[in-house]
Amino acid sequence: MAFRTLKDIDMSHKRVLVRVDFNVPLDAKGRVADDTRIRAALPTINYLRSKKSIVILMTHLGRPEKVEDRFRLDAVAVRLSRLLKARVHKFDDVVGSDVEDAVGELSWGEVCLLENLRFYPEEERDDECFASELASLADIYVNDAFSVSHRAHASVHAITKLLPSVAGFQMQHEIETFDRVLHRPKRPFIAIMGGAKVSDKIEVLENLLAKVDALLIGGAMMFTFLKATGLEVGKSKVEPDKYALARRLLKKSHRKLILPIDCVVASSPNTRGSVVDATAIPKNVMGLDIGPKTVEVYRQILAEANTIVWNGPVGMFELARFAKGTNELAKAIAKLKAVKIVGGGDTIDAINKLDLASRFTHVSTGGGASLDFLAGKTLPGIRALEENVPRIKKAQLIRRFIPHP
Ligand code: ADP
Ligand code: 3PG
Ligand code: MG
Repeated sequence: MAFRTLKDIDMSHKRVLVRVDFNVPLDAKGRVADDTRIRAALPTINYLRSKKSIVILMTHLGRPEKVEDRFRLDAVAVRLSRLLKARVHKFDDVVGSDVEDAVGELSWGEVCLLENLRFYPEEERDDECFASELASLADIYVNDAFSVSHRAHASVHAITKLLPSVAGFQMQHEIETFDRVLHRPKRPFIAIMGGAKVSDKIEVLENLLAKVDALLIGGAMMFTFLKATGLEVGKSKVEPDKYALARRLLKKSHRKLILPIDCVVASSPNTRGSVVDATAIPKNVMGLDIGPKTVEVYRQILAEANTIVWNGPVGMFELARFAKGTNELAKAIAKLKAVKIVGGGDTIDAINKLDLASRFTHVSTGGGASLDFLAGKTLPGIRALEENVPRIKKAQLIRRFIPHP
């Protein structure tokens, strides 16, 4: 790997600034509704505590434009403290002399959490002055936030120009997993793409088609493909400006791109559905799920796979009557022996509702980041760690990485 990781450098008794992604959903009372992303950072935090380092955590939450109380991190700190079974010092600001003083008072092995990074517009501007104020708090920077590594923000990007920078355990694991799938998949390699819009995922589709043995299409995007081949799709969600692209992908896909043969339709999402063949969709209905014949075909194709990547529910799974395709596929995949990777907020939600997350090889914390990675893009946060390697002094490396004389 072209960047350094936590275990490459001496982490004992250091002040360590760790970028985590605690951008978690909150419920109506402002409590953490799903702590998957907080739990994902625990191995890194606990490792640093075991090294008696001072752990300074920083994250964004939501997309506030300015200081807004509902985006404060107090509830996140409470949940983190419970998971760590240790005190978390929550600060009410991100930078400035009060924060510097408070960090200065921490003892070795203690953990603190800065306030929401996005209270400062400098964060999203990748501002170097803001980054240098953050950097002044610490000796070493750790990126353990794969899911924001597609953002060139100050706490992900500019900061790496100022401190020796390494990847945390979660970051390393996500990159290694996706890298293996993109470059050395165990074949047959089958991808399933669903979700709402073709335009969201078109780059991923093109890139994956070059790598996979089969690409199974579901979700609303199937109707753009069906319509592009000249079929009637009624009131289904389509993107007319993507018909030409859909036709081009179908033409060059060498039969790897597989479309549903039936679907569940209804006059609106509020009404009951019925199953029709994909070649016989009436004008006055919309398609909201894949049908049972398609589920069976997909199940058979997936049974042959040694690697499966899934992004995007294949139907409007939020409504039970259109969730069958997604649920049946999830249950079928859960039983398979293949390497099984799932990413995307809604897809993970669907899998968590069925309590099947533990049956997948890897559930990515990344939505946008995992899609960009699969699309073959270089994520700014990963490149920043790679470019930082020459900044790490030999003296900081632990012995096994010092080259032999
Ligand atoms: P992810 O978050 O896993 O990347 P997306 O956000 O791309 O997934 O897509 C999920 C959304 O797609 C869900 O809200 C689901 O209701 C919607 N969806 C799936 N199939 C259809 C369909 N046939 N018509 C309309 N919306 C659909
Ligand atoms: C995410 O939820 O995908 C990450 O936390 C990034 O958040 P953002 O899309 O607001 O930059
Ligand atoms: Mg989504």
